[in-house]
Amino acid sequence: MKKVILDVDTGIDDAYAIIYAIESKQLDLLGITGVNGNVPIDYVMKNTKKILKLIGNEEVKAYRGASLPLLTEPNHEFRVHGKDGIGDALDHITVDDEESDIFAPDFMIEQAKKHKGDITFIMVGPLTNLALALRKEPRLAEWVSEVVIMGGLVTKAGMGNKLPNAEFNIFADAEAAKIVFHSGLSLKLVGLDVTHKTFLTRERMEELKGTKYYDFIVESSEVFRGFSKQKYGIDGCALHDPLTIGVAIDSSIVQTEKHFVEVETQSELNYGQTICDFRNIWKQEPNMEVCLDVENEKFVTMFIDTLKQA
Ligand code: BDR
Ligand code: CA
Repeated sequence: MKKVILDVDTGIDDAYAIIYAIESKQLDLLGITGVNGNVPIDYVMKNTKKILKLIGNEEVKAYRGASLPLLTEPNHEFRVHGKDGIGDALDHITVDDEESDIFAPDFMIEQAKKHKGDITFIMVGPLTNLALALRKEPRLAEWVSEVVIMGGLVTKAGMGNKLPNAEFNIFADAEAAKIVFHSGLSLKLVGLDVTHKTFLTRERMEELKGTKYYDFIVESSEVFRGFSKQKYGIDGCALHDPLTIGVAIDSSIVQTEKHFVEVETQSELNYGQTICDFRNIWKQEPNMEVCLDVENEKFVTMFIDTLKQA
């Protein structure tokens, strides 16, 4: 089984990604690392622990990571994820304050050193933890087999979700993304180009009726669905982060191409934009595999089936 570390900024779709990663039973999850992102780090840690408790997990531990982006001020997404980050759906679950003393980037380094050539990082929040880890230990680029990243968009100018040309995770720490993109790590980018094709609609949520996660999915997604309805006319949640898990489990659900992708960090208009040099105008070697299409219905069904079997 693939050994993975999952880096999250929990977040509604992060919560679904954690559930999916664990319930799939197809990944050997070594740990979950939290990062400032959708919500501040204290919320991220609390939400992550609540989700682990909801799942009934007793093995996987959560590690606290960066509480701020490298250089910029933090940006949060309460408008999408609700005031606690998980749509106030788990108020009935209480968790303690106990936490590991190991800082998330150090955990990433420790595990990568231990499992050289046999470890995948799945990143579904801003890339701050990985950038910090790389600064401390650049040999990560040799040790980690693959990094699957939910972030950016490359084919659809003007279709960003933070700025017209910027996606949230990259926008939330573009300097960190730059470090990661130039690190030499083997990267796979799962951007809005594909994640916006994977809506779990309110209608399809009914397929989960009677299962362990139905109430949580319906309640937690209310704010998110309201936002999607208003923005995209769809009563559903884009499965950004779960798709990234799906790609780590079975990469055949996406079509990819290798290209050189750069991140804009200087411009006010385009801060956080991911620019893919499809025509190799910059004459650079490809630095990542970029997802350009997805078998969306197949993936949404995979996700629902996994939760149904839990
Ligand atoms: C990404 O931003 C966050 O709000 C989501 O959790 C996802 O990781 C989508 O742009
Ligand atoms: Ca996320």
